[in-house]
Formats: sequence, structure tokens, C-alpha cells
Amino acid sequence: MAEVRPDFNSDFSIEQNWQDYSEEEHAIWRLLFERHRRLLVGRACPEFLDGLGALGVAAEGIPDFRRLGQVLDAATGWRIAAVPGLVPDDVFFAYLAHRRFPSTCFIRRRDQLDYLQEPDIFHDICGHVPLLMNPVFADYMQAYGEGGLKALGLGHLQHLARLYWYTVEFGLIATQEGLRIYGSGILSSAGESVYCLEDRRPNRIRFDLRRVMRTRYCIDDFQQTYFVIDDFQQLFDATRPDFAPIYDEIASQPEIEPDALISSDRKFDQASPSRLNGGKKMGRRLTAAQV
Ligand SMILES: [Fe+2]
Repeated sequence: MAEVRPDFNSDFSIEQNWQDYSEEEHAIWRLLFERHRRLLVGRACPEFLDGLGALGVAAEGIPDFRRLGQVLDAATGWRIAAVPGLVPDDVFFAYLAHRRFPSTCFIRRRDQLDYLQEPDIFHDICGHVPLLMNPVFADYMQAYGEGGLKALGLGHLQHLARLYWYTVEFGLIATQEGLRIYGSGILSSAGESVYCLEDRRPNRIRFDLRRVMRTRYCIDDFQQTYFVIDDFQQLFDATRPDFAPIYDEIASQPEIEPDALISSDRKFDQASPSRLNGGKKMGRRLTAAQV
């Protein structure tokens, strides 16, 4: 009897089979890409927009990971690994620790432009890869992967996952021009890209590692709290210490609800009244993917 073999390798990698994408799939990519590019001017941080522009090949249609990987590798030494979807935590962290970003290959349908249960290739590539062109953020992602492998061994994955959630997926950054977005979960969503910057309701708090690790998050609605970093160096520096004593310290402290403020919070107050939208929800967001 023939052995039944899974259709992916032991590291969950698969072939992208770029030649098999249909013209409709490329057209959906181009539609999403153009909307994305227009929406994010003045909202995404400059490092993200620079990275998106420098990737170049992404504007033409669904990119071939081999070509995209060459551009990325030349910039920061990262590569793209095609995977079938969400992968186990240890596999995900190992990819990051080796400077390889795992990306799904499928693209959403035309009737799913604004909402999808799982991350697709557009979220993974257009949401995450532009910042991997930035050397400091690229190092942060590798450090996060290494930290993830340690956290698994220490039983503190939940605390570390919150760091990913509130930075890589839903992070905001202070710039000379005001607050900007760098989190991919936000950048994949037209609605949340506006809401996180302009709505009165969410908390915008200065980044604090322990505070982030203690804070629960919502997975099925816009965030109620965003953490604001000063720059990517701050983020990278925050991941340098050994997290083991920090995990021990926060393990005895209460968890913080997604919408709560605590006395040590330093709020970031930048929303100018003229840009507020009166609290109107702008639409649904794309799910934030791997944590
Ligand atoms: Fe993601």
C-alpha cells in the first residue's frame, strides 16, 4: 500500500506554483494593491511606504516569491517561505528566527475584498513584507522569533503573543508628522486604518513592554487600545533583555482588559478634532493572522 504523504514538507513549506495563478487572481491583487496604496498615504509610516515602493514587483500582480525574495534578501537578508496557511507556533517562530517570513499563497475572492477569516497572500505580503525591508524592523522580527521559541519552553506564549499582536499586527508609531500605522493587521483593513488614527474611542498609549504583555486583545473587532512606539529602535531594544524575569514579574500581576486604562499609562493624544469621524465605525477588518 502506498504511503499517504502530506502535501507539504516537514517545515510546512510548499511550492507557490506562481505560474498557476489565474488572470482573475492577479486582477484581484492589483485592485487590492491600488486601494491599499492610495489609502495608506498619510496613514502608514514612512518606512512602510518606502518598503512597499522598493519591493516594486508587487504592483504588477501576485508576486513570485522567488523574485520578491531576491529583492528582500538584498535589502535585509530575509526570504519568503510559501506555507499552506497558519502553521504551528514552533514552526512559525523558527521561520522568523531564521529570517524567513511564512506566507500563504491563496488570494481572497472578489466578494471578500474587505473581510476574510484567515490571512491570505495579500495580507501576508502587502501587510508584512514592506517593513521587512527596514533593517531595524527586520532584526526585531528575527528577535521575536527567537523569543517565541524561548517563550514556548517557558510556558509564556500568551504573553509574547500579545507583544506580536500589539506591535507587528496593530502597532502605531509617532512621527514628526503625527501618528502613523505600522501594524499589518491595521494596514490590511481600510476601516481600521482610518479608525485607529481618527476615531475618538480607542486608547492610544505609549508603548510599555510589561503593559503590553499584560493586556488582552479582541480578535473579532477593531482594537480598543493601540500602543505607540517612538521608533523601531525602541521596539528592538525592548526585545533585547531576557524575558524570563519579566514573565515571572508579570505572572503575579492582574491581566488588563482590552479597553482599560491604568494609572501608569501615558496616553498619546494626537487626534485633531477636524479629522475625527464622530465615532462612526468604518467597516470590518481583515483578521490579523498568526500570533
Ligand atoms: Fe499578520
